[in-house]
Parts: sequence; C-alpha cells; structure tokens
Amino acid sequence: MKLKTKTVKIGRNDPCPCGSGLKYKKCCMGKNGSDNQDLETLYAARYGIRLKKEKDIEGIRRAGRLVLETLELVESRIKPGITTDDINTWVHEFTVKNGAVPAPLNYRGFPKSVCVSINEVICHGIPSNRVIEDGDIVNVDVTSILNGYYADANKTFFAGTPGPGAVKIVRIARECLKRGMAMVKPGNTIGDIGWAIQTYAEAQGCSVVREFVGHGVGFEFHEAPQVPHFGQRGSGVPLVPGMVFTIEPMINLGRKELKVLQDNWTAVTRDGSLSAQFEQTLVVTETGVESLTPF
Ligand code: MF3
Ligand code: CO
Ligand code: CO
Repeated sequence: MKLKTKTVKIGRNDPCPCGSGLKYKKCCMGKNGSDNQDLETLYAARYGIRLKKEKDIEGIRRAGRLVLETLELVESRIKPGITTDDINTWVHEFTVKNGAVPAPLNYRGFPKSVCVSINEVICHGIPSNRVIEDGDIVNVDVTSILNGYYADANKTFFAGTPGPGAVKIVRIARECLKRGMAMVKPGNTIGDIGWAIQTYAEAQGCSVVREFVGHGVGFEFHEAPQVPHFGQRGSGVPLVPGMVFTIEPMINLGRKELKVLQDNWTAVTRDGSLSAQFEQTLVVTETGVESLTPF
C-alpha cells in the first residue's frame, strides 16, 4: 500500500478510537495503557490496530489458502506468449469459482482483479494485452476476500530463461521477505522488520522502495499498522500476538526512486532497473510468527 505520512489527530470531543462510545477526553486520552485496558483496547486506541481473535485468524488462514492455490495455478501456466490479461482471467475465474471476491477489482478505482508487474514495474501493474516475453520477471499479487476475510500475497516468477540480473534481484527480494519474517515475534517492533530488510538489501548493492509499505490486513484490504521495509532497529509499534499484517518488500537492482505512470497506478523504477517483490500475510503468535499464506 501507499505510504501515508499524515498522522490523524483525535480531538478531545471526538469519539474515542477504542470504540467505547465515550468522548476521547472521557476515555483513553492521556492514558498510556497501564490502566485496566486489555491489549485489544490499547492497540485500537493507541495505534488503530485491530488485533485478531482465533476465529478471525482461521478465517484469514482459509482466505490465505485460496490465495496460495491461485498463485500456484498462475505459476503452472505462466510462460512467454501469454498476456497479462490472461493472468487476470485465470485469477478472476478461479477466485469466483471458489466463492471468493478478488479484492483489487474496483478498489480505489483499480480496474482489474490482480496486479501484474513486469521487469522495471515495481507494483500495481494493470493487466492488459501486453505479451510476456522470454526472460521477463513477472510479479503476480493476489488478494482474495473469503467469507469477509482478506489475505494478500505475491510472488515474482520467471518467464522462460532469466538473465543474471533477474536471477539476482528475485533471489534477494525473496531473502528480504524471509529476513523480515524472521524478526516477527513478541518483544520485537515493526522497525526491526524494516531494519533487517534494508540492511540485507543494501549490503547486496540493491535498494528498497520507500513509497509502498506492508500493512495490517484481514478485516479490510489495508489496515493499520504500516510496515516499512526500511528503518531503525527497535523503532515503531511493539509486536504482540494477534497482529496480522503483510511484509512485501519491493527491491530494486538499481536506485530506489520510482515514478507512477499516467494511468495513476503503475509504479516503475526511475532508472529503469529491474524490481522484484514477495509478500505474505502473517500473524504474530505467542512465540513468533505464523504465515497465513505460507510458501
Ligand atoms: N495487493 C497490493 C498490496 O500488497 C495492493 C494492490 S491495490 C490494487 O498491498 F488496487 F492495486 F489492487
Ligand atoms: Co499487501
Ligand atoms: Co499484495
């Protein structure tokens, strides 16, 4: 999702974000959480984060299984000569056939059911009649809504035989997701995730996209918190059990800067270098992390 830099200020007389129905000043304003608030109320009030209960996690896990099956279907069929619209048709039909809804379709005006991002396209590529060529790297980002629950995952595939730059950026992007996931456990913070990703990517001579971040997910497509793929160790929100969010690093072979094309969606590297991405939906457990879209 797009990085938001504005913070929302809650007025004294606004409804309290913890959902109590009281005015903010009569409820959580000025409280640091040590009062008799449970974690769920505290995280809603302080961060706008909706912690998930076991029944919610099971719902997201089921949506996640469908997302994975969808990615596997695409992987089995992707090859030079097909169009990105073909991928859109496969994803749309498989999703609907399984009783789910493709979340991208009409989301903030997005016109298709899946994002397909080739080579220098960082993310949010719109399926079209573009033909996939030998050596292309193709990111396919699938989000499905099943029984009201959202799961979000993506992978970057090779079409035909990749060149050395393609092999490198796909390997590093996958490793960045893995290293980010390894930081997920109670006691660590959101900032630890970005720190691990940025440190590795830059040590390999690659760069991390700043304008798009991971995000809370489950009840909606994009929820709090934002999950940057860069940053400082120990900064940001402490991770607690029941937090569900994505990690989805976009890693460029060249410089980190991007531009968005005239269609207002397609984000490409400014220097034209290759970009790759992998994404999973994760839940913080008592002891660490569980992927709800495991691959
Ligand atoms: N799936 C993307 C993400 O990981 C968001 C796509 S928004 C869309 O957050 F509208 F382009 F689908
Ligand atoms: Co996402
Ligand atoms: Co996604």
